[in-house]
Amino acid sequence: MQDYYAARATEYDKVYAKPERQADLRQIEQWLPGVLAGRSVLEVACGTGYWTQFFAPRCTRIVAIDSAPETIQIAKSRVPPEKVEFVVGDAYSLPPQPKPLSAGFAGFWWSHVPRTRVGEFLRGFHAALEPGAPVVLLDNRFVPGSSTPITEQDAAGNTYQTRLLSDGTSYRVLKNFPSERELLAAVSPFATGVRYHEWEYFWALEYVTAAP
Ligand SMILES: C[S@@+](CC[C@H](N)C(=O)[O-])C[C@H]1O[C@@H](n2cnc3c(N)ncnc32)[C@H](O)[C@@H]1O
Repeated sequence: MQDYYAARATEYDKVYAKPERQADLRQIEQWLPGVLAGRSVLEVACGTGYWTQFFAPRCTRIVAIDSAPETIQIAKSRVPPEKVEFVVGDAYSLPPQPKPLSAGFAGFWWSHVPRTRVGEFLRGFHAALEPGAPVVLLDNRFVPGSSTPITEQDAAGNTYQTRLLSDGTSYRVLKNFPSERELLAAVSPFATGVRYHEWEYFWALEYVTAAP
């Protein structure tokens, strides 16, 4: 998957131009910055910084991590450099922070986490945040006709899509579409005040980190 996103970096943002998703995107762009306002934010898998650009103006500081230098390069052009520290790193082994951050965000990352690694990711993510930190996890719902079809499912229940880039190269990409119930069960050990939001094309979990 890391090779895929490195190769896709320059065409990644086409996904945000799908006409049928525009109304949902405008609503989320309005909503998300308010949840993270006034906070120092740890953003995991920031990609090209599409979401970073909306909340950066309202946050005190952002540490934005992605495994692909190619996407980070694009993200850097979108946000004020004095506010955002971009780090090439691994979501499962986050770089240590001098002090915990006061909010967390991961956009379109959960869907790429193998089901067996969800707990590992959440533990590491929450360990880098203060207790009481607001967190938003945002991702896709599967919508026939708009979503790329599922081509495969493995024994653990992970689903996969076959994705084509404009140069014709094809990649098998893990893309899970968890139910509300699965999401709530996964975050409940770490969270209080969990709220599930749903738009036509997207879902989000909003919660506050519990004391360890
Ligand atoms: C679907 S994109 C989401 C990008 C961005 N958050 C957004 O919403 O537009 C997934 C991102 O995860 C990154 N990624 C893949 N594996 C990773 C890992 N192990 N650690 C950190 N980032 C990773 C990819 O480089 C890619 O930018």
